[in-house]
Amino acid sequence: MTEGRRRTLCGFGLLAALLAGAWSCGAVMRSPGEQLLVSKCGACHPRPERERFDRAGWEEVLERHRERVPLDEAQRRDVLEWLGSAD
Ligand code: HEC
Repeated sequence: MTEGRRRTLCGFGLLAALLAGAWSCGAVMRSPGEQLLVSKCGACHPRPERERFDRAGWEEVLERHRERVPLDEAQRRDVLEWLGSAD
């Protein structure tokens, strides 16, 4: 087996494991957005209640928090997805 092929197979195995994990633990595992909230926002105050604002409101909160909480684009999207999905 060539080196390249072995790496590809390894990549698939890892992907499959990740997907299986995400599906089978879906009910138990927290979403990326919620995990970020716990780790990033929990440092200063308790995890905010997401019922408090709608999605647009949360965007403003994150905007006000820009200096305090540096989030990259993907993290911002995950956080907003979780916060904005209360109902
Ligand atoms: C470095 C500390 C710090 C971190 C980290 C932090 N906050 Fe805050 N947050 C504050 C402080 C201080 C206030 C109160 C003063 C203010 O509103 O400016 C506050 C207020 C708030 C409020 C209520 C006031 C408002 O802005 O409407 C919400 C909601 C909130 N934070 C959400 C979050 C979320 C969501 C995160 C994570 C993405 C987060 N915070 C991370 C310090 C922090």
